[in-house]
Amino acid sequence: MTPQEFLKVLEHFGQHHILEHFRALSSHQKEVFLEANRDLDLRLVFNLYRQFSGTDNSGRVPGTISPPRIICIPQGSGEHDDALGARSVGESLLRRQKVAVLIVAGGQGSRLGFEGPKGTFPLSPIKGKTLFQLFAEQIKSLSARFGVTIPLLIMTSGDNHEDTTRFFHKNRYFGLVPDTVHFFTQEVLPALSPEGRLILRDEVRFYTSPNGHGGSLKALSDSGLLARLTAAGYEELFYCQVDNPLVRIADPVFLGYHSLAGSQATTKVVRRRSVDEKVGVYLDVNGKDAVIEYSDLDEGLMEAVDEKGEILYWAGNTAIHIFSLSFIKDLNSDGFALPYHCAKKSAYVTSSDWEPASIDVWKFETFVFDAIPLAQNTCCMEVAREEEFAPVKNKDGPDSPDTARQALIDLHHTWLEKAGIAVPADAKVEISPLFALTPEEAAEKLRTRKVVPSPDIYIE
Ligand code: UD1
Repeated sequence: MTPQEFLKVLEHFGQHHILEHFRALSSHQKEVFLEANRDLDLRLVFNLYRQFSGTDNSGRVPGTISPPRIICIPQGSGEHDDALGARSVGESLLRRQKVAVLIVAGGQGSRLGFEGPKGTFPLSPIKGKTLFQLFAEQIKSLSARFGVTIPLLIMTSGDNHEDTTRFFHKNRYFGLVPDTVHFFTQEVLPALSPEGRLILRDEVRFYTSPNGHGGSLKALSDSGLLARLTAAGYEELFYCQVDNPLVRIADPVFLGYHSLAGSQATTKVVRRRSVDEKVGVYLDVNGKDAVIEYSDLDEGLMEAVDEKGEILYWAGNTAIHIFSLSFIKDLNSDGFALPYHCAKKSAYVTSSDWEPASIDVWKFETFVFDAIPLAQNTCCMEVAREEEFAPVKNKDGPDSPDTARQALIDLHHTWLEKAGIAVPADAKVEISPLFALTPEEAAEKLRTRKVVPSPDIYIE
């Protein structure tokens, strides 16, 4: 947008307070102001404002809701055979170098009370490996195992991009080839006041916020990475959030089910811990699979139980997905297809001219799981929470570093048990992803390895 066009848009949407502010700036400041803001999608934001004002913004979804079809954790031998079949299909995808990995790491770790990108949080119980290191080591292991390059894509936000890239550089990419690690930044959108006015963050910048993790599917396309991956022959994107140290990166069984179902958007779910657990719920909405965030789902549905007293809509979203690259391309083919949500929050705004103040703001964001109902075919797979889901969200209490660390310790205890190795129940156990990625692999390798019982058992 040219500076003139940009100012016209401000005029058109009645942002006279901004124009007044702009006129009072020095000519140098005016230049900086235009440079800093003119790429922001103001039209989108004002259209969204119109769409959301006057609504109750509850996000409640109209339509018929029923339990979806889910591939549950295998019980009998038939289901185990199915899983083995899926695994070999997934392994073939990996071997043929069709799989890339995306970790969304653009959010702020504010709930965790941690300064710095969440991925740099030291989490593993003995070595204090960061979340990023745990993921990178899995990718290193997988790449070596299948003799391929698995690109690692990391979505950052403007606020943590520098810190994230510097962290990887400083740590030599945790053994990954630097050229195979790609950082890209998600878009930001200006937030508005409840009256629909743009807010200044300082003399020359608007108050903005990241456009939600759904923005990863847009930024992948806008950045050219999607085209590059496709040109290099990649077909599937394994997607996860930076906050879950138990995630099984590019799990072959998951990839296999995705492929066998001809799915474009596949999801892992766990049984919801309780009716008020803060997870999205995987549902069938009007005959299409979808995730509805807990805060948007009717209380009656959140709390519904079956005749045995068990949670009826039990499938909690782990935010682990596979998206086909061709599907992501389609989502971007005619504008960006994901719908926006409006979060009404309070924000702390300061500037040289105004007193620091907490004000109400409307932020606009997209959720990646809104891609699911847009897919032609979908697939959903249940996994065991204790094996694959222990997100780090809060400083303490549930879903905190303590619970995630304990989950890692407990998991690796079971790996040792399965390998027939007895260790004290209170020992800390940490098995490096560079040693084994699954209990089967650990058992195989541990046949020739002596584990000395001690309070801290680290296996690499
Ligand atoms: C999210 C899901 C929820 C799921 C749960 C599983 C939403 C709205 N809900 O909840 O359905 O059950 O995870 O743990 O997402 N991020 C960005 N850019 C953004 C916003 C977020 O990269 O603009 C990243 C964050 O870094 C984080 C992840 O997305 O890795 C999750 O975001 P968050 O807003 O914390 O969602 P949750 O409340 O954890």
